[in-house]
Formats: sequence, C-alpha cells, structure tokens
Amino acid sequence: MVSKSFVKTGFLAPLGLLSLFSAVQGHQYTIVNKCPSDIDVYNGNTLFTSNLSTGNNVTQDIAANSASFYTTANGGSTSGASTQAGFFDDTGAAYYYFLKESGTVNTPIEVQPSYIEKAGSGYCRINYCFDAGCPSYSSAPDEATIPNNTPWPPPLPLWECPYSDVSFIITFCPFGTF
Ligand SMILES: *[C@@H]1O[C@H](CO)[C@@H](O)[C@H](O)[C@H]1NC(C)=O
Ligand SMILES: *[C@@H]1O[C@H](CO)[C@@H](O)[C@H](O)[C@H]1NC(C)=O
Repeated sequence: MVSKSFVKTGFLAPLGLLSLFSAVQGHQYTIVNKCPSDIDVYNGNTLFTSNLSTGNNVTQDIAANSASFYTTANGGSTSGASTQAGFFDDTGAAYYYFLKESGTVNTPIEVQPSYIEKAGSGYCRINYCFDAGCPSYSSAPDEATIPNNTPWPPPLPLWECPYSDVSFIITFCPFGTF
C-alpha cells in the first residue's frame, strides 16, 4: 500500500513546480444563491463575494486545496456555525465533502461537479446537505489520513470525481428556502 503522504511528495511536489509555468491550476467554482435573501459567501476566512443577490451567481478560479465555502446567512458565522462545502485535490482527482463544525445547517447546500456521474459508479455525484443528518465531517478532514487504496470511490462523507479539470457549482438553498 502506498501511503498518501508518499504520493504527495512523490507526485504533487513536481506538479506544483510545473504549475508555475502552466495555466491556472485548481478549479473553477460557481456560487449560486437561491436563498430568499442576499448572502455573503466566504472561502475560509476570506470574503469570496458579498451580498450576492437571490438568483445570481459568481464564478472564479481558485487554487486547489483551498478552504471551504459557506455563507454567514441565516445564523451562520465565520467561526464554525455554518454548513460548509470543502474541496481538495490529489493526482488526477477532485474530492469534495460537507463540513458541519457545529452540527447544524444554516443553509442547505448542493455541490454539482461538471462531470456527469457514470451510472452506478458513485463517482462525480451531485451532493446535498439539507439537514443535520447529511453525511459530513465535524472538522476538516486531514488529507494525509485518507486511504489511498481501493475500493474507490472513498467512503462517505467524502466524494470523489476522478478528473483533474473538474469545475463545481455550489448552490446555497437549492430549493429556494433556508
Ligand atoms: C451587505 O449589505 C448589507 C446591507 O447593505 C451591509 O450591511 C453588509 O455589510 C454587506 N456585506 C458586506 C460583506 O459588505
Ligand atoms: C449564472 O448567471 C447567468 C446569468 O444570469 C446564467 O445565465 C447562468 O445560467 C447562471 N449559472 C448558474 C450555474 O446558475
């Protein structure tokens, strides 16, 4: 079995150097607001977009393995009270998950990868977190501890889309209500 950390130092470090000389690395994220009010959206501690109005969206490329996305709307906060959508990369694959540090859901979130799930494969699923019962982490996962062996896709609450150029649509309040 090859450990995750070995893979990272063995492959990702050279890729990281390459990225200095190639096009944008990371992923394109489109944030859609279907909540019944304007929302401020954060990526980690950074304000990603302020007062995104209902029905509107913003798109931006940001680095892989960046912090998770959430909104402070409806009782959320920058100190862990928000439902979050997190992402990280490994060689040729994008991983995504939900994070509920406080256990509650301030806004339902839908995450849709740009590749369609191959029937029954379990890869590239559109995922939802609607309530406190949705599969999620309670603290951000440590990539180094995620098993690198088969069977894939990984067990919940982690999802995988095995392509390096996946883009994601993150929809807050997909049904139009908090
Ligand atoms: C969003 O708009 C409200 C009302 O105008 C304002 O109070 C708030 O500061 C804005 N949010 C940000 C992050 O600027
Ligand atoms: C983003 O907004 C544009 C302009 O209104 C719209 O055409 C597009 O479908 C929206 N994208 C998503 C993912 O909602």
